[in-house]
Amino acid sequence: MIKPVIMAGGSGTRLWPLSRTLYPKQFLKINSDHSMIQNTVTRLAGLDVSLPVTICGEEHRFVVAEQLRAIDKLGCILLEPVGRNTAPAIALAALNELDKGKDPILLVLAADHQIGDTARFQQVVNSAVIFAEQGQLVTFGIVPSHAETGYGYIRKGVGIADGFKVAKFVEKPDEATAQGYLASGEYLWNSGMFMFKASRYVAALEKCRPDILQSCKQALVDTQADLDFVRIDKQSFVDCPAESIDYAVMEPLCNAEGSDSVVVVPLDANWSDIGSFSAIWDVSAKDSNNNVHKGDVLSHNSANNLILAENTLVTTVGIENTIVIQTKDAILVAAKDKVQEVKNIVEQLKRAN
Ligand code: GDD
Ligand code: MG
Repeated sequence: MIKPVIMAGGSGTRLWPLSRTLYPKQFLKINSDHSMIQNTVTRLAGLDVSLPVTICGEEHRFVVAEQLRAIDKLGCILLEPVGRNTAPAIALAALNELDKGKDPILLVLAADHQIGDTARFQQVVNSAVIFAEQGQLVTFGIVPSHAETGYGYIRKGVGIADGFKVAKFVEKPDEATAQGYLASGEYLWNSGMFMFKASRYVAALEKCRPDILQSCKQALVDTQADLDFVRIDKQSFVDCPAESIDYAVMEPLCNAEGSDSVVVVPLDANWSDIGSFSAIWDVSAKDSNNNVHKGDVLSHNSANNLILAENTLVTTVGIENTIVIQTKDAILVAAKDKVQEVKNIVEQLKRAN
Protein backbone atom coordinates (compact mmCIF):
# COMPACT_ATOMS: atom_id res chain seq x y z
CA MET A 1 0.00 0.00 0.00
CA ILE A 2 1.29 3.44 -0.97
CA LYS A 3 1.62 6.17 1.67
CA PRO A 4 0.75 9.61 0.26
CA VAL A 5 2.97 12.38 1.64
CA ILE A 6 1.43 15.81 1.17
CA MET A 7 3.84 18.74 1.26
CA ALA A 8 1.76 21.69 2.38
CA GLY A 9 4.19 24.13 3.92
CA GLY A 10 4.61 26.61 1.07
CA SER A 11 3.45 30.19 1.31
CA GLY A 12 2.42 30.87 -2.32
CA THR A 13 3.69 34.45 -2.31
CA ARG A 14 3.16 34.91 -6.07
CA LEU A 15 -0.59 34.64 -5.45
CA TRP A 16 -0.75 37.54 -2.99
CA PRO A 17 -3.23 39.01 -1.99
CA LEU A 18 -5.30 35.85 -2.49
CA SER A 19 -2.68 33.72 -0.78
CA ARG A 20 -1.79 34.98 2.70
CA THR A 21 0.71 33.91 5.34
CA LEU A 22 -2.09 32.51 7.45
CA TYR A 23 -4.06 31.15 4.51
CA PRO A 24 -1.76 30.16 1.64
CA LYS A 25 -2.93 28.98 -1.75
CA GLN A 26 -3.08 25.24 -1.00
CA PHE A 27 -6.06 25.97 1.27
CA LEU A 28 -7.91 28.08 -1.31
CA LYS A 29 -10.66 26.89 -3.62
CA ILE A 30 -9.44 27.79 -7.09
CA ASN A 31 -11.89 26.80 -9.86
CA SER A 32 -13.29 24.09 -7.60
CA ASP A 33 -15.66 23.33 -4.72
CA HIS A 34 -12.69 21.88 -2.88
CA SER A 35 -9.39 23.44 -1.87
CA MET A 36 -6.17 22.48 -3.63
CA ILE A 37 -5.02 20.27 -0.74
CA GLN A 38 -8.42 18.52 -0.64
CA ASN A 39 -8.23 17.87 -4.39
CA THR A 40 -4.68 16.54 -3.97
CA VAL A 41 -6.01 13.88 -1.61
CA THR A 42 -9.34 13.07 -3.28
CA ARG A 43 -7.55 12.56 -6.62
CA LEU A 44 -6.01 9.43 -5.05
CA ALA A 45 -9.35 7.68 -4.44
CA GLY A 46 -9.24 4.30 -6.14
CA LEU A 47 -5.46 3.90 -5.85
CA ASP A 48 -4.06 1.44 -3.32
CA VAL A 49 -3.23 4.16 -0.80
CA SER A 50 -3.46 4.58 2.97
CA LEU A 51 -4.48 7.81 4.73
CA PRO A 52 -2.01 10.58 3.92
CA VAL A 53 0.69 12.05 6.06
CA THR A 54 0.67 15.82 5.68
CA ILE A 55 3.59 18.07 6.55
CA CYS A 56 2.86 21.72 7.16
CA GLY A 57 3.71 24.72 9.28
CA GLU A 58 2.48 24.66 12.86
CA GLU A 59 0.40 27.79 12.22
CA HIS A 60 -1.69 25.90 9.64
CA ARG A 61 -2.58 22.91 11.82
CA PHE A 62 -6.24 23.74 12.25
CA VAL A 63 -6.99 24.56 8.62
CA VAL A 64 -5.23 21.37 7.46
CA ALA A 65 -7.03 19.20 10.01
CA GLU A 66 -10.39 20.80 9.24
CA GLN A 67 -10.03 20.49 5.46
CA LEU A 68 -8.84 16.87 5.58
CA ARG A 69 -11.50 15.90 8.10
CA ALA A 70 -14.15 17.43 5.82
CA ILE A 71 -13.22 14.88 3.12
CA ASP A 72 -12.79 12.10 5.69
CA LYS A 73 -9.04 11.77 5.02
CA LEU A 74 -7.49 12.95 8.23
CA GLY A 75 -4.24 11.04 8.60
CA CYS A 76 -1.10 11.95 10.49
CA ILE A 77 -0.10 15.64 10.41
CA LEU A 78 3.53 16.55 11.01
CA LEU A 79 3.94 20.13 12.19
CA GLU A 80 7.09 22.06 11.34
CA PRO A 81 7.94 24.81 13.84
CA VAL A 82 9.76 26.59 10.97
CA GLY A 83 9.83 25.89 7.24
CA ARG A 84 13.05 24.22 6.09
CA ASN A 85 11.90 23.46 2.53
CA THR A 86 11.08 20.09 1.04
CA ALA A 87 14.19 17.92 1.55
CA PRO A 88 13.79 18.01 5.36
CA ALA A 89 9.96 17.85 5.17
CA ILE A 90 10.10 14.59 3.20
CA ALA A 91 12.85 13.28 5.47
CA LEU A 92 10.61 13.79 8.51
CA ALA A 93 7.80 11.83 6.82
CA ALA A 94 10.15 9.01 5.77
CA LEU A 95 11.89 8.74 9.17
CA ASN A 96 8.55 8.81 10.97
CA GLU A 97 7.44 5.73 9.01
CA LEU A 98 10.75 3.91 9.57
CA ASP A 99 10.49 4.70 13.30
CA LYS A 100 7.20 2.81 13.33
CA GLY A 101 8.97 -0.22 11.82
CA LYS A 102 7.41 0.34 8.40
CA ASP A 103 9.01 1.03 5.03
CA PRO A 104 6.17 2.00 2.70
CA ILE A 105 6.39 3.39 -0.81
CA LEU A 106 5.89 7.13 -0.40
CA LEU A 107 4.01 9.08 -3.04
CA VAL A 108 5.22 12.62 -2.40
CA LEU A 109 2.80 15.26 -3.65
CA ALA A 110 2.73 19.04 -3.70
CA ALA A 111 -0.51 20.38 -2.24
CA ASP A 112 -0.96 23.01 -4.92
CA HIS A 113 -1.08 21.26 -8.28
CA GLN A 114 -4.03 20.93 -10.59
CA ILE A 115 -4.40 17.73 -12.62
CA GLY A 116 -7.10 17.66 -15.28
CA ASP A 117 -7.13 13.93 -16.02
CA THR A 118 -7.35 11.98 -12.77
CA ALA A 119 -7.75 8.58 -14.44
CA ARG A 120 -4.56 9.07 -16.45
CA PHE A 121 -2.71 10.34 -13.37
CA GLN A 122 -3.66 7.17 -11.51
CA GLN A 123 -2.59 4.96 -14.42
CA VAL A 124 0.81 6.64 -14.50
CA VAL A 125 1.26 6.33 -10.73
CA ASN A 126 0.38 2.63 -10.92
CA SER A 127 2.84 2.08 -13.76
CA ALA A 128 5.59 3.65 -11.65
CA VAL A 129 5.10 1.52 -8.53
CA ILE A 130 7.36 -1.22 -9.90
CA PHE A 131 10.31 1.21 -10.06
CA ALA A 132 9.83 2.26 -6.44
CA GLU A 133 9.56 -1.38 -5.39
CA GLN A 134 12.88 -2.03 -7.12
CA GLY A 135 14.54 0.71 -5.09
CA GLN A 136 14.51 3.48 -7.67
CA LEU A 137 13.63 7.10 -7.00
CA VAL A 138 10.80 8.02 -9.35
CA THR A 139 10.12 11.47 -10.77
CA PHE A 140 7.12 12.36 -12.91
CA GLY A 141 7.94 14.39 -16.03
CA ILE A 142 5.79 16.83 -17.98
CA VAL A 143 6.34 17.64 -21.66
CA PRO A 144 7.37 21.31 -21.49
CA SER A 145 5.31 23.90 -23.36
CA HIS A 146 7.58 26.91 -22.82
CA ALA A 147 10.92 27.89 -21.32
CA GLU A 148 9.68 28.16 -17.72
CA THR A 149 12.49 29.05 -15.34
CA GLY A 150 10.52 28.19 -12.20
CA TYR A 151 10.71 24.43 -12.78
CA GLY A 152 13.25 21.64 -12.70
CA TYR A 153 14.33 20.03 -16.00
CA ILE A 154 14.96 16.32 -16.44
CA ARG A 155 16.93 14.93 -19.38
CA LYS A 156 15.60 11.58 -20.55
CA GLY A 157 18.18 8.80 -20.73
CA VAL A 158 17.61 5.28 -22.00
CA GLY A 159 14.07 3.97 -21.98
CA ILE A 160 13.09 1.49 -19.28
CA ALA A 161 9.55 0.00 -19.11
CA ASP A 162 7.12 2.96 -18.95
CA GLY A 163 9.84 5.47 -18.15
CA PHE A 164 13.39 6.62 -18.76
CA LYS A 165 16.54 6.64 -16.73
CA VAL A 166 17.36 10.21 -15.75
CA ALA A 167 20.46 11.43 -17.57
CA LYS A 168 20.50 14.87 -15.95
CA PHE A 169 18.47 16.98 -13.52
CA VAL A 170 18.69 20.77 -13.49
CA GLU A 171 16.62 22.74 -11.00
CA LYS A 172 15.37 26.15 -12.11
CA PRO A 173 17.78 26.92 -14.98
CA ASP A 174 18.16 30.45 -16.35
CA GLU A 175 16.09 31.57 -19.32
CA ALA A 176 18.72 30.85 -22.02
CA THR A 177 19.41 27.36 -20.65
CA ALA A 178 15.67 26.62 -20.44
CA GLN A 179 15.25 27.75 -24.08
CA GLY A 180 18.00 25.34 -25.10
CA TYR A 181 16.41 22.46 -23.19
CA LEU A 182 13.03 23.18 -24.77
CA ALA A 183 14.50 23.27 -28.29
CA SER A 184 16.42 20.02 -27.76
CA GLY A 185 13.25 18.01 -27.12
CA GLU A 186 15.27 15.85 -24.70
CA TYR A 187 13.95 17.34 -21.47
CA LEU A 188 10.82 17.06 -19.38
CA TRP A 189 9.75 19.41 -16.60
CA ASN A 190 9.98 17.96 -13.13
CA SER A 191 6.38 17.89 -11.87
CA GLY A 192 7.50 18.12 -8.23
CA MET A 193 5.87 14.77 -7.37
CA PHE A 194 8.05 11.81 -6.39
CA MET A 195 7.74 8.17 -5.45
CA PHE A 196 10.21 5.98 -3.54
CA LYS A 197 10.48 3.72 -0.55
CA ALA A 198 11.01 5.60 2.70
CA SER A 199 14.35 3.83 3.25
CA ARG A 200 15.48 4.68 -0.31
CA TYR A 201 14.99 8.39 0.25
CA VAL A 202 16.78 8.25 3.58
CA ALA A 203 19.71 6.44 1.90
CA ALA A 204 19.81 9.08 -0.85
CA LEU A 205 19.82 11.88 1.70
CA GLU A 206 22.52 10.11 3.68
CA LYS A 207 24.66 10.09 0.54
CA CYS A 208 23.94 13.64 -0.65
CA ARG A 209 23.17 15.62 2.52
CA PRO A 210 23.97 13.73 5.72
CA ASP A 211 23.74 17.03 7.60
CA ILE A 212 20.04 17.40 6.72
CA LEU A 213 19.36 13.77 7.62
CA GLN A 214 21.10 14.14 10.97
CA SER A 215 19.09 17.26 11.89
CA CYS A 216 15.82 15.55 10.97
CA LYS A 217 16.67 12.41 12.96
CA GLN A 218 17.50 14.52 15.99
CA ALA A 219 14.33 16.60 15.61
CA LEU A 220 12.20 13.45 15.58
CA VAL A 221 13.89 12.02 18.66
CA ASP A 222 12.99 15.19 20.56
CA THR A 223 9.45 15.33 19.17
CA GLN A 224 6.16 14.97 21.06
CA ALA A 225 2.95 13.52 19.64
CA ASP A 226 -0.11 15.59 20.48
CA LEU A 227 -3.57 14.20 19.50
CA ASP A 228 -3.82 14.36 15.69
CA PHE A 229 -0.52 16.16 15.40
CA VAL A 230 3.16 15.32 15.61
CA ARG A 231 4.93 18.49 16.68
CA ILE A 232 8.51 18.53 15.44
CA ASP A 233 10.95 19.75 18.06
CA LYS A 234 11.83 23.37 17.44
CA GLN A 235 15.29 23.55 18.94
CA SER A 236 16.65 20.73 16.78
CA PHE A 237 14.77 21.57 13.58
CA VAL A 238 15.76 25.24 13.54
CA ASP A 239 19.36 24.16 12.87
CA CYS A 240 18.39 22.03 9.87
CA PRO A 241 19.64 23.46 6.55
CA ALA A 242 16.74 24.70 4.37
CA GLU A 243 16.88 23.08 0.96
CA SER A 244 14.50 21.56 -1.56
CA ILE A 245 14.61 17.88 -2.53
CA ASP A 246 15.45 19.05 -6.03
CA TYR A 247 18.70 20.78 -5.05
CA ALA A 248 19.60 18.56 -2.10
CA VAL A 249 18.98 15.13 -3.60
CA MET A 250 17.81 15.03 -7.21
CA GLU A 251 20.45 17.24 -8.83
CA PRO A 252 23.48 15.70 -7.14
CA LEU A 253 22.20 12.13 -7.41
CA CYS A 254 21.23 12.36 -11.08
CA ASN A 255 24.33 14.23 -12.10
CA ALA A 256 26.78 12.01 -10.25
CA GLU A 257 28.62 9.98 -12.82
CA GLY A 258 27.32 6.48 -13.27
CA SER A 259 24.16 7.12 -11.30
CA ASP A 260 21.17 5.22 -12.62
CA SER A 261 18.95 5.10 -9.58
CA VAL A 262 16.53 7.79 -10.72
CA VAL A 263 13.75 7.20 -13.21
CA VAL A 264 11.39 9.64 -14.90
CA VAL A 265 7.91 8.52 -15.86
CA PRO A 266 6.16 10.86 -18.31
CA LEU A 267 2.90 12.24 -16.93
CA ASP A 268 0.42 13.37 -19.59
CA ALA A 269 -2.57 14.18 -17.40
CA ASN A 270 -3.10 17.89 -17.97
CA TRP A 271 -0.90 18.93 -15.03
CA SER A 272 -0.33 22.48 -13.88
CA ASP A 273 1.35 24.10 -10.94
CA ILE A 274 -0.98 26.91 -9.94
CA GLY A 275 1.98 29.03 -9.00
CA SER A 276 0.99 32.42 -10.39
CA PHE A 277 -2.02 34.41 -11.58
CA SER A 278 -1.14 33.75 -15.22
CA ALA A 279 -1.36 30.00 -14.43
CA ILE A 280 -4.84 30.53 -12.98
CA TRP A 281 -5.81 32.42 -16.16
CA ASP A 282 -4.37 29.55 -18.26
CA VAL A 283 -6.45 26.85 -16.62
CA SER A 284 -9.73 28.79 -16.17
CA ALA A 285 -12.77 28.99 -18.44
CA LYS A 286 -12.73 32.26 -20.45
CA ASP A 287 -15.41 34.47 -21.96
CA SER A 288 -15.52 35.45 -25.65
CA ASN A 289 -12.85 38.13 -25.06
CA ASN A 290 -10.56 35.66 -23.29
CA ASN A 291 -11.26 37.23 -19.91
CA VAL A 292 -11.49 35.27 -16.70
CA HIS A 293 -13.91 37.02 -14.33
CA LYS A 294 -14.74 35.92 -10.81
CA GLY A 295 -17.11 37.77 -8.50
CA ASP A 296 -18.86 41.02 -9.31
CA VAL A 297 -16.98 42.20 -12.42
CA LEU A 298 -18.09 44.36 -15.33
CA SER A 299 -15.81 44.98 -18.32
CA HIS A 300 -15.99 46.97 -21.51
CA ASN A 301 -13.61 46.60 -24.43
CA SER A 302 -11.19 44.57 -22.30
CA ALA A 303 -9.46 41.33 -23.24
CA ASN A 304 -7.13 38.60 -21.93
CA ASN A 305 -7.51 39.70 -18.32
CA LEU A 306 -7.96 37.91 -15.02
CA ILE A 307 -10.27 39.99 -12.80
CA LEU A 308 -11.26 38.75 -9.38
CA ALA A 309 -13.59 40.70 -7.12
CA GLU A 310 -14.00 39.42 -3.58
CA ASN A 311 -16.48 41.85 -2.10
CA THR A 312 -16.94 44.97 -4.25
CA LEU A 313 -17.87 45.66 -7.85
CA VAL A 314 -14.76 45.83 -10.07
CA THR A 315 -15.07 47.42 -13.53
CA THR A 316 -12.54 47.76 -16.33
CA VAL A 317 -12.47 49.73 -19.57
CA GLY A 318 -10.04 49.15 -22.43
CA ILE A 319 -7.42 47.07 -20.62
CA GLU A 320 -5.62 43.97 -21.86
CA ASN A 321 -3.36 41.30 -20.40
CA THR A 322 -3.89 42.61 -16.91
CA ILE A 323 -4.49 41.00 -13.54
CA VAL A 324 -6.78 42.73 -11.04
CA ILE A 325 -7.28 41.04 -7.69
CA GLN A 326 -9.56 42.75 -5.19
CA THR A 327 -9.74 41.36 -1.66
CA LYS A 328 -11.16 42.82 1.57
CA ASP A 329 -7.98 44.65 2.49
CA ALA A 330 -5.75 44.80 -0.58
CA ILE A 331 -5.87 45.27 -4.36
CA LEU A 332 -3.30 44.04 -6.84
CA VAL A 333 -3.07 45.39 -10.38
CA ALA A 334 -0.35 43.70 -12.42
CA ALA A 335 0.74 43.10 -16.01
CA LYS A 336 -0.01 39.46 -16.87
CA ASP A 337 3.52 38.80 -18.11
CA LYS A 338 5.08 40.17 -14.91
CA VAL A 339 3.15 38.14 -12.35
CA GLN A 340 6.23 36.23 -11.20
CA GLU A 341 7.30 39.51 -9.59
CA VAL A 342 4.29 39.70 -7.26
CA LYS A 343 6.48 38.03 -4.63
CA ASN A 344 8.60 41.21 -4.54
CA ILE A 345 5.57 43.10 -3.20
CA VAL A 346 5.24 40.52 -0.43
CA GLU A 347 8.94 40.96 0.41
CA GLN A 348 8.51 44.74 0.54
CA LEU A 349 5.47 44.37 2.80
CA LYS A 350 7.37 42.03 5.12
CA ARG A 351 10.25 44.50 5.36
CA ALA A 352 7.84 47.34 6.13
CA ASN A 353 6.11 45.46 8.95
N1 GDD B 1 6.01 20.95 4.62
C1 GDD B 1 6.61 21.80 3.83
N2 GDD B 1 7.64 22.53 4.35
N3 GDD B 1 6.20 21.94 2.57
C2 GDD B 1 6.84 22.82 1.78
C3 GDD B 1 7.92 23.61 2.24
C4 GDD B 1 8.33 23.45 3.62
O1 GDD B 1 9.24 24.10 4.12
N4 GDD B 1 8.33 24.40 1.22
C5 GDD B 1 7.53 24.11 0.17
N5 GDD B 1 6.62 23.16 0.51
C6 GDD B 1 5.58 22.57 -0.34
C7 GDD B 1 4.75 23.59 -1.09
O2 GDD B 1 3.56 23.89 -0.37
C8 GDD B 1 4.44 22.84 -2.39
O3 GDD B 1 3.29 22.03 -2.22
C9 GDD B 1 5.65 21.92 -2.58
O4 GDD B 1 6.25 21.80 -1.30
C10 GDD B 1 6.69 22.44 -3.61
O5 GDD B 1 7.19 23.66 -3.15
P1 GDD B 1 7.26 24.94 -4.12
O6 GDD B 1 7.85 26.06 -3.34
O7 GDD B 1 5.94 25.15 -4.78
O8 GDD B 1 8.33 24.44 -5.20
P2 GDD B 1 8.53 25.01 -6.65
O9 GDD B 1 7.22 25.09 -7.37
O10 GDD B 1 9.34 26.26 -6.57
O11 GDD B 1 9.44 23.87 -7.35
C11 GDD B 1 9.11 22.50 -7.28
O12 GDD B 1 7.97 22.19 -8.06
C12 GDD B 1 8.13 22.42 -9.49
C13 GDD B 1 6.84 22.03 -10.19
O13 GDD B 1 5.78 22.71 -9.66
C14 GDD B 1 10.35 21.72 -7.76
O14 GDD B 1 10.16 20.35 -7.49
C15 GDD B 1 10.57 21.93 -9.27
O15 GDD B 1 11.63 21.10 -9.74
C16 GDD B 1 9.30 21.59 -10.03
O16 GDD B 1 9.47 21.81 -11.44
MG1 MG C 1 5.24 25.07 -6.77
